[in-house]
Amino acid sequence: MSTHIGAEPGEIAERVLMPGDPLRAKWIAETYLEGARCYTTVRGMLGFTGKWNGVDVSVQGSGMGMPSASIYAHELVNEYGVKSLIRVGSCGALTEDLQLRDVVAAIGSSTDSNMNRMRFDGLIDYAPVADFGLLRTSVEVAERRGISMRVGPILAADAFYTDRPDLYDTLADYGVLAVEMESAALYTIAARFKARALTILTVSDHIKTGEKTTSQEREQTFGQMVEIALDTIIA
Ligand code: ADE
Repeated sequence: MSTHIGAEPGEIAERVLMPGDPLRAKWIAETYLEGARCYTTVRGMLGFTGKWNGVDVSVQGSGMGMPSASIYAHELVNEYGVKSLIRVGSCGALTEDLQLRDVVAAIGSSTDSNMNRMRFDGLIDYAPVADFGLLRTSVEVAERRGISMRVGPILAADAFYTDRPDLYDTLADYGVLAVEMESAALYTIAARFKARALTILTVSDHIKTGEKTTSQEREQTFGQMVEIALDTIIA
């Protein structure tokens, strides 16, 4: 096992979906994967492997925020040989042309995190981006399934509760669609260790209007997003 994942070598598939919430990982495994088996319960951060359309796929909870997601992405890629990671999560909309429950694929991720400033000694503003092949496939899959999906840049924030909502307005002026808390770290780690990564999100709350989805609505749209992610990762 690795430091934070209690799986034996070979128990985790090369293709992994990463929701933040470990109970979402369980729900995805039980709802979609054939023969799903739990391979880790370390810290309650559940992980499962099963089959989607006959192909091995794992689902691993990542926790909230970039420090937590980085640990799981790093160990999955470096200790279990994972090649493709798709984060499936929720986001807050920053622009008025996004509605609650919309699905968003993150082409790139700006961040207020200090992790990459440390990584590049403060000398480079590294631009974490999605794997183009996964992104292109996800767009094709969404079209085929008749699910409308916005593709654009997002913000990966360190803090859920912010004292600087004005910065969200400025980012929206620059075309940033939504805020979540993990994508920049996921894209950076995948690039560094030669894996492929994508982030697909559903809008759970609207920063401009204050609207929020109900838990039932979240479950329904979460399902559409998971179906796009599963079809994409096995393509
Ligand atoms: N994930 C879902 N909604 C969010 C928000 N408003 N801020 C950061 N991450 C989120």
